[in-house]
Amino acid sequence: MNSTLAAVPLAKAYRLLNHGPTVLVSAAHAGRRNVMAAAWAMAVDFEPGKVAVVLDKQTWTRELLEAEGSFVLSVPCAAQVDLVQTVGNTSGRELDKFAAYGIETLAGE
Ligand SMILES: Cc1cc2nc3c(=O)[nH]c(=O)nc-3n(C[C@H](O)[C@H](O)[C@H](O)COP(=O)(O)O)c2cc1C
Repeated sequence: MNSTLAAVPLAKAYRLLNHGPTVLVSAAHAGRRNVMAAAWAMAVDFEPGKVAVVLDKQTWTRELLEAEGSFVLSVPCAAQVDLVQTVGNTSGRELDKFAAYGIETLAGE
């Protein structure tokens, strides 16, 4: 009889859990702004709404976010896949990604 169970390598097992959208995480502090891609984002509560996002400590976005105490999550559409790859593979330390890649912004609350 064929088993319906399949073992997966532990290092790849997260892929079976992380089915939500890759999001854009943006933050601004002291006149600097930045945006990065993050696949590891999840909802953790309803009211007030809470999310958990895993941001590597080497990311510039995380530094801005921690300095400011706030951040924005945006959910990109499929047509923005190239933009997601671009902001997810470049650092904003030396570059304003919004200006460089023509990313539209609006003021957050
Ligand atoms: C599809 C995709 C998903 C990503 N998900 C994450 C993530 O969940 N957490 C993370 O720390 N980095 C993630 N990254 C990598 C960051 O987006 C990348 O390190 C980025 O260059 C950081 O930019 P910054 O240093 O300007 O903040 C992802 C990249 C891509 C392309």
